Amino acid sequence: MKIDGQSWRTIWLEEGGRSVGVIDQTLLPHRFTTRSLSSCDQAAEAIRTMVVRGAPLIGVTGAYGLMLALQVDPSDASLAAAFEQLNATRPTAVNLRWALERVRDLVAPLPPEQRAEAAQAEAAAIADEDVAMCEAIGEHGLAIFQELAAARPGTTFNVLTHCNAGWLATVDWGTALAPIYKAHRAGLDIHVWVDETRPRNQGASLTAYELGREGVPHTVIVDNAGGHLMQHGQVDAVIVGTDRTTRRGDVCNKIGTYLKALAARDNAIPFYVALPASTIDWQIDDGVAEIPIEARSPKEVTHIQGRGPDGGITSVQLSPDGSPGFNPAFDVTPARLVTALITERGVVAASADGLKELYGDV
Ligand code: MRU
Repeated sequence: MKIDGQSWRTIWLEEGGRSVGVIDQTLLPHRFTTRSLSSCDQAAEAIRTMVVRGAPLIGVTGAYGLMLALQVDPSDASLAAAFEQLNATRPTAVNLRWALERVRDLVAPLPPEQRAEAAQAEAAAIADEDVAMCEAIGEHGLAIFQELAAARPGTTFNVLTHCNAGWLATVDWGTALAPIYKAHRAGLDIHVWVDETRPRNQGASLTAYELGREGVPHTVIVDNAGGHLMQHGQVDAVIVGTDRTTRRGDVCNKIGTYLKALAARDNAIPFYVALPASTIDWQIDDGVAEIPIEARSPKEVTHIQGRGPDGGITSVQLSPDGSPGFNPAFDVTPARLVTALITERGVVAASADGLKELYGDV
């Protein structure tokens, strides 16, 4: 996607593969800065500190992290240690484990001297496939939006989204935002309600930034406003991404997604989840019981980051000294609250049968 007329992906190879370039998402929307990751430690740190974030982008960064480790030491021990180090950085999004396993399983049978090059090719393939999957999600979601909008001719089509599931969370296009970009480019009169998404405000900072750069009409709202807007007919559809979707279609996504699904159900508003196959965890059924929910620093709750009057990016304290914070980063929306899953292979019911229908070969 474009920033100031220039096309970007969120991750790219530098110096013929000796390092990996990324956009520092901790400074957006106030400062656009790139960083070079030139070791496995730096890749792990970038994931842990959310310089890069979003399930698909975390996976691709992990894959390149293995490549960087193997460039220094291609032994079995180094491969195993790098896998563990990267896999431990963020526990909820399953794309990380999926991408790490894919690279590890490909390179492990090879002679050590061939491993780094093979890891590079595989990580690049994962990145390219992610772009293709997200674009296909965009096409399938566009068809849904066009059908819903056609039922309300002459009005703006209002979509609500939570967190950031745009191109910054993937390699390009995004998951939940891909249909929005496609719809906007197709000339649909679309407007997006952007949940700020406390505590880290990926909506207010990243989704709003992306949509603004693409010229998509949008409005940032506090997380608690969605239900009210739905009651007053100002939301036609909700679309979100997911960090892990179970075999039966339970959806784990940024904290607060579940409440939006409940409000959407109460107001008979369709609630869609957009995802590539890499986000499906075929090993589990019950998302609430089985998905590990990342607990992040309470400081993300008690403090907030933004741009100060002097232009500097700063953090200020919100709550009283001594009041503890608690910060679960994700929640699970049960499949029964999901209208449909929008995948790169098509649109299906959020159910074991629905997913089997599309991915019977996996
Ligand atoms: O904690 P984050 O910013 O990595 O969380 C990201 C989300 O929850 C996204 O909505 C998600 O990764 C799915 S879409 C690409």
